[in-house]
Amino acid sequence: MHSGEPSKTYGANLSAGETQKDEVRWSETAGLASLLNAVTIRDFTPHDLSAILKIQDENPAAARWAADDFARLMGGGRGFILVAESQGETPSSVTGFAAYHSMAEDAELLNLAVAVEYQRHGVGGMLVREGAQRLRKQGARRLWLEVRESNATARKFYIGLGFFERGRRRSYYSDPQEDALVMELKLEGENG
Ligand SMILES: CC(C)(COP(=O)(O)OP(=O)(O)OC[C@H]1O[C@@H](n2cnc3c(N)ncnc32)[C@H](O)[C@@H]1OP(=O)(O)O)[C@@H](O)C(=O)NCCC(=O)NCCS
Repeated sequence: MHSGEPSKTYGANLSAGETQKDEVRWSETAGLASLLNAVTIRDFTPHDLSAILKIQDENPAAARWAADDFARLMGGGRGFILVAESQGETPSSVTGFAAYHSMAEDAELLNLAVAVEYQRHGVGGMLVREGAQRLRKQGARRLWLEVRESNATARKFYIGLGFFERGRRRSYYSDPQEDALVMELKLEGENG
């Protein structure tokens, strides 16, 4: 488990590979400027569970995890969950999450979703770039994930972040049955 990392506040619409800044405010021109002043990426706490289950439920393309799956990941010592939180509302609200697991030089992005009303404003990119940066600091060299072949949105999103398609797992998913594409992000160099 990786607690104790400071949370970071990012602005919207940082492009893939752009240097993260600790204090960047949403642009006044951003679509959600009136709703969001800033998004903070921080570690998951048990208080976030109901919010991330709700976000998962409203996103059928996300992994179908039960509460126990999140608890197991956190209890296993090799996983962490990042949460995106909007600071522009009272109370602030959880707008997305990303779950990671690492084994030495290989890490995996296991689950990721952004609340529907916050999608396409950079939140998913922040969650992945922050996760990749942490994993790289821990010594991981590769970040892997599986994605449904039909999930064109996520594939485009991952490619924009620097992932490459590395292979296919036949009939990996059920309900409906479908192949998974395996994608990899190299964590050396500028990526992550
Ligand atoms: C995939 C997901 C996490 C992306 O989060 P997000 O916050 O909307 O993504 P971002 O705003 O950071 O998008 C970054 C880029 O990804 C691409 N992208 C994201 N959503 C897109 C969409 N609906 N259509 C086309 N491209 C898209 C774009 O290139 C976008 O950059 P742009 O807005 O400047 O054009 C989000 O769509 C989601 O929660 N989907 C449902 C769950 C899911 O599929 N999880 C992944 C399972 S493997």
